[in-house]
Amino acid sequence: MHQAFVDQLRGLGRADLRVLDLGAGPGFLAEFLLRHLPELKMSLLDFSEPMQELAKARLKEYALPQGRFICRSFKDPMWRQGLGTFDVVVTNQAVHELRHKRYAEALHCQVKGVLSTGGVYLVCDHFHGDGGMGNDQLYMTIDEQQDALAGAGFQTVRQVHRAGTLVMHRAA
Ligand SMILES: C[S@@+](CC[C@H](N)C(=O)[O-])C[C@H]1O[C@@H](n2cnc3c(N)ncnc32)[C@H](O)[C@@H]1O
Repeated sequence: MHQAFVDQLRGLGRADLRVLDLGAGPGFLAEFLLRHLPELKMSLLDFSEPMQELAKARLKEYALPQGRFICRSFKDPMWRQGLGTFDVVVTNQAVHELRHKRYAEALHCQVKGVLSTGGVYLVCDHFHGDGGMGNDQLYMTIDEQQDALAGAGFQTVRQVHRAGTLVMHRAA
């Protein structure tokens, strides 16, 4: 899945993209992205200080400015305040952390608000249904995931990768 994120970013044809990783955790995805695309301007948002500390340690060699580690909850309606805009928002296995699928559309709508014109949202999470997860309150079917993105106002939504119980959509 991490390689699929790299492929999508490469496809955008610019090296110095401003990328926000939402629910970045210990920075595994960010580290993978920077290893393959070192000119990315990565920002990592997570509400867990221990996760942020792990991410900082993992990304030490990339010397990201301190301000690129954003300790906030994406459940806070004000989470976007002062962040500016990004060319790409990526999120991996974090949307279900909203703890109910009914909140996904509102989050996607907020993400739309931090994307620059022409920006791209790459959303990867577990899906519910055949071959996926059993909990239908936490996890959405692939159709529900796409409906939530379309409902948030994204004009083009398409599935770009699937692996195990995970699926990635590209919304713009
Ligand atoms: C399953 S982990 C995924 C981490 C990372 N994206 C990855 O792929 O390795 C989910 C992450 O979301 C973070 N998280 C959960 N709820 C959050 C919230 N409301 N705001 C910000 N981060 C949150 C957790 O702290 C955790 O790091």
